[in-house]
Order: sequence, then structure tokens, then C-alpha cells
Amino acid sequence: MRASLASKNEGKLRELRRSLPDWEIELLEAGDYPPETGTTYYENAFGKAEFGRGVEPRRWILGEDSGLEVDGLDGRPGVESARFARGEHAARLLAELDAVGGDGRRARYVCELVALSPDGEELRGTGVLEGRIAGASSGTGGFGFDPIFIPEGESRTVAELGDEWKAENSHRARAARALREAFNR
Ligand code: IMP
Repeated sequence: MRASLASKNEGKLRELRRSLPDWEIELLEAGDYPPETGTTYYENAFGKAEFGRGVEPRRWILGEDSGLEVDGLDGRPGVESARFARGEHAARLLAELDAVGGDGRRARYVCELVALSPDGEELRGTGVLEGRIAGASSGTGGFGFDPIFIPEGESRTVAELGDEWKAENSHRARAARALREAFNR
């Protein structure tokens, strides 16, 4: 299976390659992506895949959208995650949650993957990773909110757990497995 990922995010590409080692995934070579206007992860993932199909109509295209939902912020930043305090994701979230404890720090990562074939067949995979927001930033692996997200059942952040852990357990890894199952069905 050869596919182009409609994204500029090298971190997502690295993770998907590790989670789907038998798929050959490249980053789509495209200029400016259209703005993300969807109100759901699926709409945004589909929009990216459809844009990619316009650029490379003869390949399978993967569209991916993901985000972090924090209970104490009523599910924010959610689908707005990419636009949330660009480049300072973790610091801003920690500041917003300064006075929030207990259940308010519960959170989850969500990932939606859409694959479109050259003749328009559509497959999907969804993945969720439950956890909580740490008191302070820690670790150097991953990207975005990883230094402040502690998965359920773990005592370290995703950034401390590292890329191998992510390739097996992350929301993106789970979505990738679901997509593979849909593909092999
Ligand atoms: P997207 O590129 O529009 O899907 O934006 C995803 C945003 O959600 C990223 O910029 C991060 O803020 C956040 N996010 C999604 N997945 C992850 C992850 O695996 N680690 C850290 N942050 C993530």
C-alpha cells in the first residue's frame, strides 16, 4: 500500500510510518493547504484528503485531523487545537488550567484518519487516548501537547514515554490500526 499524507506535519508522518510499517507513506508535496473550516475532526480529515486527491489523483491519499479535549475547558481546544496558541501549546494550556484540579484535568487525544483511493473509495479510522494534563511540562519526545499529557495508567508524559510508545499506543496509532482493519476487510 502506497499513500501520500496530506499534511506538512513531519511528526505525524513519522508516527504513521512507525504504526503502519508495511505501508509506504510520503508527505504530499503541495503548496498552501486550504484553511481548516470543519466543525469535526472527520470533516477536516476528509477535507485534507480531498485536497490531496486534487494534487495527486493517482495515489491513495491520507487525511488526518487530531486534537486534545480537556474536561475543565469544556472540551477545548478540540478541533481548534492546531490554532491554539501556535508554538506555545503546552504553556498556554498549563496557564489556563492553573486553578483547575482533579477531574477538570482529565483529557483525551482524538485522531481521525480518512483514506481516499484514486477512484474515490473512502475508508476511515478513529483513535482515542484518554489521560490527564500534568502539573508541569516534562520530556522531549513527540510534539504539541505531548510534554503535558499523561496517558491513563501511566505516570509519565507522552513526551517522556517517547516515540516507540507513541507508535504503539497513541490516538494516531489506534486510528491507524482501525484504518488498516477497514482496508483489509
Ligand atoms: P491538525 O494538524 O489540524 O490535526 O492539528 C492537530 C493539533 O492537535 C496539533 O497541532 C497539536 O496541537 C494537537 N495534537 C494532535 N495530536 C497530537 C499529538 O500526538 N501530540 C501532541 N499534540 C497533538
